[in-house]
Amino acid sequence: MKTIKIMTIFLGIVVLSCTNVKSTWAEKPTNIVFLTWKPNQPEVWDTVIENFHQKNPDIHIKVQVGPHSSTQYHAIVAQRLKNMDKSVDVFFMDVIWPPEFANAGWALDLSSKFSVEEQNKFLSGPITANTYQGKIYGVPCYLGAGLFYYREDLLKKYHFKPPTLWKEMLKQGEVILKGENEQGLHIYSGQFKQYEGLVCNMMEFIWSNGGAVIEQKTGKVLLNDPTVVKSLEFVRDKIIARAAPRGVINYEEPESLDLFIQGKTIFHRNWPYAWAVANDQKKSKIAGKVGVGIIPAFQGHNSASTLGGWQFGINNYSMHAQKAWRFVQFMTSHETQKILALDAGLAPTRRSVYQDPEVQEKRPHLNAFLPAFKNTRPRPLSPVYPMISQELQRFFSHAITESGSDISEMAAASSARIEKFFALGAMIPK
Ligand code: GLC
Repeated sequence: MKTIKIMTIFLGIVVLSCTNVKSTWAEKPTNIVFLTWKPNQPEVWDTVIENFHQKNPDIHIKVQVGPHSSTQYHAIVAQRLKNMDKSVDVFFMDVIWPPEFANAGWALDLSSKFSVEEQNKFLSGPITANTYQGKIYGVPCYLGAGLFYYREDLLKKYHFKPPTLWKEMLKQGEVILKGENEQGLHIYSGQFKQYEGLVCNMMEFIWSNGGAVIEQKTGKVLLNDPTVVKSLEFVRDKIIARAAPRGVINYEEPESLDLFIQGKTIFHRNWPYAWAVANDQKKSKIAGKVGVGIIPAFQGHNSASTLGGWQFGINNYSMHAQKAWRFVQFMTSHETQKILALDAGLAPTRRSVYQDPEVQEKRPHLNAFLPAFKNTRPRPLSPVYPMISQELQRFFSHAITESGSDISEMAAASSARIEKFFALGAMIPK
């Protein structure tokens, strides 16, 4: 009798534990596919996704990584979303894409999930960029703003202050090159390959000369304006032909930064993340010798910086929008943005992260640049932005690489094409 009782208890435990096993099987985590571009510091992204898994055992994030170039990555995301591919749940969006993705019906309208009260906790530039016809389609993850990096040690050695004018930068560079007499040292590196990064760099040269590419209100394209033409001639004749190494016309962010951290250029234009890389002892030969400031300007004009950055969007056709939203919330939380700021040097989009004492202590430059981040300027806002950008990329690339070419003539033809695209975008019903 006693044995039977013991047996019953034993069986009971076995049955119970079987039920447990069964229920664990039943709750197999849901796969959420996150499509992203190739990040600059993949190890930091692995960490934050692992943190998410720890806290959300019912969800498994499957990361699919595309190319680093925003332009090439766009082609992949657009292709998949155009085909109503349900296998993507969350995607990373460049700051210039929300109007296009919203208009095409690819990005889920997040207005009911991402309340205005919550939106107010973010910097306003990226929120505006994610808003289309009064609805919000993306949650900003980190902010991009063009910054100017320089070799602080070399400037000190030659008694120079960080240059505020482009011409001053060239003059200082010439003196340093002469003094250092070092094979392979150049004055400047930036992003001049024919892709989205070229548009960002060229906008800064044009704006910092008082020019503009498009009048957003009227859709008038100003490429033929003498100020714009002069800015492009300066880049062609002084930057590409003299200050930068020849290869620069094939460089995106990683290659141009590589040159700088190898100690091969004195000045460098890049996004906020470059600070962490340039000061990483394991990756950089110039760690601790770097200064950072705002982008130089032309005489009589103000420095300008392009608004960049990346956002999370949810596929309109995702079968798991609710779980996808939990992932997006986690990835844009104070906690995650803080890790991205501390370990990857990314500029937060959440205001509270700038006030975090640890961020202030370990990444003081992010706070120092907050006013500049708030004043970044957007690229043209249009649901057909990729068409506009393709034309700008082609035009800028020809203008700065073909020595002696008639920029004005090319500009007139390009302007006419862009005006048509812009009008097409504006015709889309509001
Ligand atoms: C950075 C910016 C993005 C920009 C791209 C160009 O990733 O955040 O907005 O389009 O660089 O290369």
